Amino acid sequence: MKNLIVLFLSLVLVYSTNLLAQNKYVGVKTCMACHKGEKGKMVYENWLKTKHAQAFNTLKSEKSKEIAKKMNLKVDPTEAPQCLKCHATGYFPGEQMMPTNKKEDGVTCEACHGPGSAYKSKHGKDKREEGFKLGLVIGKNDETICKKCHNPESPTYVGFNYKKDWEKVKHQ
Ligand code: HEC
Ligand code: HEC
Ligand code: HEC
Ligand code: HEC
Repeated sequence: MKNLIVLFLSLVLVYSTNLLAQNKYVGVKTCMACHKGEKGKMVYENWLKTKHAQAFNTLKSEKSKEIAKKMNLKVDPTEAPQCLKCHATGYFPGEQMMPTNKKEDGVTCEACHGPGSAYKSKHGKDKREEGFKLGLVIGKNDETICKKCHNPESPTYVGFNYKKDWEKVKHQ
């Protein structure tokens, strides 16, 4: 019984500290600082060329306005949580962000690598394991990360094929 109480109390502790320390989205500029240019293996520049970097801009198009009209949205698509959750980063229910996270940047690094407030300066090289513990995700061949957005809830869904689609957005 005593063991059970100790177990219970430590579970409560783990759970509440996790809640207090929920990782927040910090925005692409933070990642860019170290991941651009030759030194950063051009990861930022490569991402910038993918459609993910344009995802927010797409919400300004005529086509987006038509979709929003059909769905009877009360606000412009660039303001609608129904669109932002997939066309920006950090807008799914329950997610948290810092003011530096901008919707204008579209689908950024953290949409796939996880919110970076804890791991942003503690990962990679000799801090690899620490990075993973602090929430960094490298979803090699993990299509569940993509299917958070690439699914039939997208009003324009065209299907998803990991192998083919990854080739179009890989960045290193
Ligand atoms: C203070 C500099 C710095 C910042 C800021 C930074 N990184 Fe890194 N990151 C590195 C270094 C150094 C490496 C290891 C070398 C490499 O893989 O390019 C690395 C590696 C990585 C890796 C591969 C990790 C591995 O173990 O193979 C990922 C993924 C990554 N960073 C994502 C991000 C994301 C997402 C952000 C923003 C939230 C970010 N980084 C911000 C310096 C940084
Ligand atoms: C946060 C949501 C989100 C996640 C996560 C996400 N995507 Fe996307 N993706 C989008 C949106 C939104 C677009 C449409 C961008 C546009 O055209 O404005 C898109 C576009 C694409 C395109 C371009 C499709 C075309 O028309 O050419 C490819 C390829 C793609 N994503 C692959 C992936 C892969 C692979 C993953 C997982 C490793 C992934 N995406 C994860 C939201 C997401
Ligand atoms: C659409 C999802 C997605 C986005 C957006 C994205 N990444 Fe990645 N990234 C991945 C996946 C998945 C891998 C695993 C690579 C593989 O399968 O070879 C990866 C690999 C990496 C690696 C190499 C890790 C390794 O050890 O091989 C780095 C570094 C990295 N990403 C950094 C970034 C940075 C910085 C950004 C933003 C500028 C970014 N990524 C944007 C999904 C994404
Ligand atoms: C569940 C995630 C998701 C939601 C929600 C979502 N989108 Fe998208 N959107 C995507 C993805 C992924 C793509 C890439 C193509 C595809 O598979 O639909 C995309 C592509 C688009 C495109 C480009 C299509 C083309 O053919 O050029 C437009 C326009 C668009 N979305 C508008 C919107 C609007 C407006 C809303 C809100 C009413 C919205 N989307 C909500 C995920 C989403």
